[in-house]
Amino acid sequence: MTILIEQPYVETQSEEKNVHAEETNELVLDGGFPLPQDGFYAPDMNAFGKAFRSYDAESERQKNVEEFYRKQHINQTYDFVKKMREKYAKLDKAEMGIWECCELLNEVVDESDPDLDEPQIEHLLQSAEAIRKDYPNEDWLHLTALIHDLGKILLLPSFGELPQWAVVGDTFPLGCAFDEANIHHKYFKENADYNNPAYNTKNGIYPNGVGLDNVMMSFGHDDYMYLVAKENGCTLPSAGLFIVRYHSFYPLHKEGAYKHLMNEEDFENLKWLNIFNKYDLYSKSKVRVDVEKVKPYYMSLIQKYFPEKLKW
Ligand SMILES: [Fe+2]
Ligand SMILES: [Fe+2]
Repeated sequence: MTILIEQPYVETQSEEKNVHAEETNELVLDGGFPLPQDGFYAPDMNAFGKAFRSYDAESERQKNVEEFYRKQHINQTYDFVKKMREKYAKLDKAEMGIWECCELLNEVVDESDPDLDEPQIEHLLQSAEAIRKDYPNEDWLHLTALIHDLGKILLLPSFGELPQWAVVGDTFPLGCAFDEANIHHKYFKENADYNNPAYNTKNGIYPNGVGLDNVMMSFGHDDYMYLVAKENGCTLPSAGLFIVRYHSFYPLHKEGAYKHLMNEEDFENLKWLNIFNKYDLYSKSKVRVDVEKVKPYYMSLIQKYFPEKLKW
């Protein structure tokens, strides 16, 4: 069964500034795009950035992106995130293994994406295989790449069928002022937290160096997958969980905002997130992955770091 998600602006659109790894596939390895020697090209990134290629319906897409962020910025409030975290912390939606979830993600098709004609599982495996090639000994990183987008199942009916603005797009902290580095910052003016004196100073409710673990991030596929992994006793190293949780935190890892909230461990983990981002970009290349061929390897990693069945 294929489920077509409406609201045509999930992680696929172009915008004024940059490019997000998941949104474009300009790194067409068999298509003559010049790659640097290490095989990767890491342009500036942001969840809905300007692509290198121009789309016919470019301005239409930009409008859709802007409308997406308008909704996201208005609706993602501190209270909303708190409620969503509580709701999904119950993990009462399903019981399944990691691989099963990878296959389930195939049912999510973003029909607005002109490039994504491959199943989602291939996107996951492409990034995982690319990282594996360059970091053969970091098996945790291969698995991290495989699972990083699994939280997008939140778009499916059995997981709440959340609207796009509650699942994808750049993420940002709540409980402190919205940094100007956030894309389409102006729409935060309509967010209920914007005029709340407890939340609208640079630090808000957080002391300097509080650690991102203690920061309320906007809700989406990143935070949900982190929650699932952690609550099910996943043994990935903290850098792996950090990547899962903050890979859409573009204001931080692309723009350098919110660093005053980070602690020492966050800074260490950020190095790995920056590495990971390059491969997330690569992963929409046209290189096909033979799923059945690589499956045994990833099954062995899943066995190493996850229980057989997880609560979702
Ligand atoms: Fe991704
Ligand atoms: Fe993602």
